[in-house]
Amino acid sequence: DETKAGVKGIADAGLLNIPRVFIRPPEELAEEENLLLVAKSKFHVPMIDLEDMENRRKEIVNEIRLASASWGFFQLLNHGIPETVMDGMILGVARFHEQDTEVKKQFYTREFTRKVQYTTNFDWYQTKTAKWKDSFMCSMLSPDLIDPEELPAICRDIMLEYTEHVRILGNTLIELLSEALGIGKDHLIRMGCTNLSVLGNYYPACPQPKLTMGSYKHTDSSFFTLLIQDNIGGLQVLYQNHWVDVKPKHGAIVVNIGDLLQLISNGKFKSAEHRVLANQVGPRVSVASFFSTSSVMKSAKVYNKDLISDEDETDLPVCSNVRVPDYLKHYIKHNNSEGNDG
Ligand code: SIN
Ligand code: FE2
Repeated sequence: DETKAGVKGIADAGLLNIPRVFIRPPEELAEEENLLLVAKSKFHVPMIDLEDMENRRKEIVNEIRLASASWGFFQLLNHGIPETVMDGMILGVARFHEQDTEVKKQFYTREFTRKVQYTTNFDWYQTKTAKWKDSFMCSMLSPDLIDPEELPAICRDIMLEYTEHVRILGNTLIELLSEALGIGKDHLIRMGCTNLSVLGNYYPACPQPKLTMGSYKHTDSSFFTLLIQDNIGGLQVLYQNHWVDVKPKHGAIVVNIGDLLQLISNGKFKSAEHRVLANQVGPRVSVASFFSTSSVMKSAKVYNKDLISDEDETDLPVCSNVRVPDYLKHYIKHNNSEGNDG
């Protein structure tokens, strides 16, 4: 039952030293020390304003193309999701994690096929260092809406409301990203890009934050991911070999390109590596919405060479025969990651 209380359960016990399973290997910690000596990054994650999209569409598409190609990360303002709904969703996730273990444990599972999964990585210690976080994943649209009765009562209404807004913004982004890439939006929709999983992350305050991580360096397996975070901070993206903070901005939504979009664009758009630092203060709460694909798309090819013109220069191998399920299997094996709900 200890595992089912999550990392939160460990944090609540008030230890001064974190359990060994959370401690990063010495070489990694030493490397981090060196990185810390590097002057604070001069880079800033691009901020893109969707205000007045009808008249500024060309400009916006351009900004999205540049940000997706160079960073794989950007933040959106005036995206249409009300701040009250975003704040409510962060609060809903906090409430879920702060329920009694007795209630939470009904949702505890390691079964990837379950539509609602509360997990902590506590017992993965045989293979790797554990993350200082608990998470709660709901397969909201796959592609039909989840039966609301399956959702935990404590955050059911806000999850349904938030999902509806995210679905609409996701469709707008499918259009904008497709325009930026020069493909028809049907292409992504045919690949099942409208499947949506929502992941509520909870990072308890950590007594020794420098020894561990909230989330280790990874890429997302999705087409793209929409993220909201509270005001604690800790998310970083790797850009030109620098870890750059994705600074919390109230009301902004973080967008990151995932592996599937990188693959179908043959590397034009970048699936950037990112991670989350643990923090002495907390909890930190974030909500990631993965636009991915489903098992319905069994035969979809990841890469379609019709999308890429002959003049395109790319260093990436063309993986014309990779199919989505094979790709996801490879991903789960090789990547310390989130968002494999395929
Ligand atoms: C976050 O919590 O800000 C991002 C989570 C992740 O991408 O691992
Ligand atoms: Fe991620």
